Amino acid sequence: MKLNPFASTRGPLFTDQDKEAVVWFFQSYLWPKARWLGLIVVLVALQGLVYRQFLHLTENGLRVIFDKGAFRDLYVVCAAVFALFLFRAATSYVTPRLSAWVAGDAIFNLRADLIKRLLNFDLSFYEKTPTGEVILRLVQQPEGLGQFVGQGTVNALRDVLTVLIIAAYLITQQPWLFLFALATAPAILWAISAISDRIKKIQRDAEQALGAYMSGIEEVANGMRTVKIAGQESAEENRLVETSENVKNLGIRIQAAQALMMPTVDIAAAFAYMLVIGAGGYLVINPEYDLDGAGLVAFLLGLVLLFDPARRAAHFFVTLQAQLVILRSIHRLFEMVPSIKDRPNAIDVPEPRGDIVFDKVDFAYDAEHALFSDLSLRMKGGQTTAIVGSTGSGKTTILSLLARLYDVTDGQITYGGTDIRDLKLEGLRGQFSVVAQDIVVFNKSIWENIHYIRPEASDEEVWAAAEAAEIGDLMRRRGAAPVGPKGQQLSGGQKQRIAIARAFLRAAPVVILDEATSALDQKTEERVMLALDRLAEGRTTIMVSHRMSSVMGADQIYVLESGQLVEQGTHEELMARGQLYATMFDAQRAGYD
Ligand SMILES: Nc1ncnc2c1ncn2[C@@H]1O[C@H](COP(=O)(O)OP(=O)(O)OP(=O)(O)O)[C@@H](O)[C@H]1O
Ligand SMILES: [Mg+2]
Repeated sequence: MKLNPFASTRGPLFTDQDKEAVVWFFQSYLWPKARWLGLIVVLVALQGLVYRQFLHLTENGLRVIFDKGAFRDLYVVCAAVFALFLFRAATSYVTPRLSAWVAGDAIFNLRADLIKRLLNFDLSFYEKTPTGEVILRLVQQPEGLGQFVGQGTVNALRDVLTVLIIAAYLITQQPWLFLFALATAPAILWAISAISDRIKKIQRDAEQALGAYMSGIEEVANGMRTVKIAGQESAEENRLVETSENVKNLGIRIQAAQALMMPTVDIAAAFAYMLVIGAGGYLVINPEYDLDGAGLVAFLLGLVLLFDPARRAAHFFVTLQAQLVILRSIHRLFEMVPSIKDRPNAIDVPEPRGDIVFDKVDFAYDAEHALFSDLSLRMKGGQTTAIVGSTGSGKTTILSLLARLYDVTDGQITYGGTDIRDLKLEGLRGQFSVVAQDIVVFNKSIWENIHYIRPEASDEEVWAAAEAAEIGDLMRRRGAAPVGPKGQQLSGGQKQRIAIARAFLRAAPVVILDEATSALDQKTEERVMLALDRLAEGRTTIMVSHRMSSVMGADQIYVLESGQLVEQGTHEELMARGQLYATMFDAQRAGYD
């Protein structure tokens, strides 16, 4: 992509979304510190005024030298100049400290809000967004933004104010000379706009590339076992190096585009100096005009003082574009509203242990593939309901809908007669003890992993739950040792027993078991099942299992096939029908014999 000055597709310097994002950021995170911001502006303005006074003093000093030759006046001027710069030094220490504090605080608050948002997003957000991107948004982007706001913006403010103050001084001193100097301004403005546009485009790609890189690393780190067994180390290495190279290339391109700004200002400056020296020299030599040597030298000095901050301010504007892209991507997260949240009049669960009813439920994970349509089932309170069916038939989805991890697209699910969408989420989810199919354990000790589900539980309760789940021995042996990221130091069956222990500890009114004992050996399973039977007593139990032997005792069994309910009844009724359930049961029994 070459920088084409005549490109007609150039977007506006600031789009509406840019403005919205900036206003949002300012109002939410900077405005609360308005007083300190005001102080920063004052300090920064004072720094600009120092330059103005310096010019004024210099002009006077030069006159003293050129015209009068009075030493005493010269001393005074020198002392005043020194004092001015001492003052500037003091403010240039205080300002960055102040601004770093204001910006650091703003970013801390932004992060806190981001964390809160992330925890409330729908599960479907995480199923679509790679973890790397989440980390990018929480770690890298706010960090960059913080530095930019803290240093970049304050420096730019100082530079712009300095430029304005010096410019105002120069205009009042020599309006004509200033007009000559101004002749180069359009070139600078044009360059800012052209370069900004280019940077915006590259930065968008760069954010994506960085996200892909982080996600790649996350995927490899998590999937190391598979990578190694499959012998894919070098393929993964190539993939990661390639994405990393993408990041590098885009970074270089951004810097290259930004680097165009400085020379543009320098060339503009060269023209301005040339014009001013030429025209100014003419005015000094020509006796008709009252411009003297001291005036011209001071004016030139003013221009020199002005161009440096102007240069930096121009550079700021082009880096600003990259930051706007980042700010907008963060702002978008704040615009996303989770769809699964409490309704305004949400109520507490009025009747725990009531019936759970799926009433003509429609649901689809994505628009094209409907999973359920008109699905109706009833899980009686206090009884055990089993759901069986081939893999992918929608068993886990039924359980997810019940806990409102997703909302039904049509129909309703009621709990004790109330639509679950009218219940408070926290209350609803508090009704369930879940042993899920995919077990999540954290990198903490086994004890902490169990305790996690009910932080207020006593030590005795945790131990009792662990014993019921047959994991007490292991817990004693491992002690405080953490179980590794994602519990990688544990076997599948051990992780499953942690999940079962959590269900015992939580002891909520509804027990949900999704292939809860699938990873246990037969002996352990029998013992755990007995304990689970005790847990199920007096509670509503919903169990999903491939093992027909474990669902036999259920009060009601539903047979699911690709999202359709094909059979229902007790074990005896279903066996008597002699259809799908009976075939599945016989097939498994044959396998055992
Ligand atoms: N998060 C998801 N996003 C999109 N599709 C999904 C998601 N989870 C499940 N599916 C799809 O929905 C269907 C039902 O999945 P579900 O997990 O409910 O099956 P299951 O009956 O529990 O199967 P299994 O016995 O293998 O656990 C499957 O076709 C699956 O591909
Ligand atoms: Mg499942």
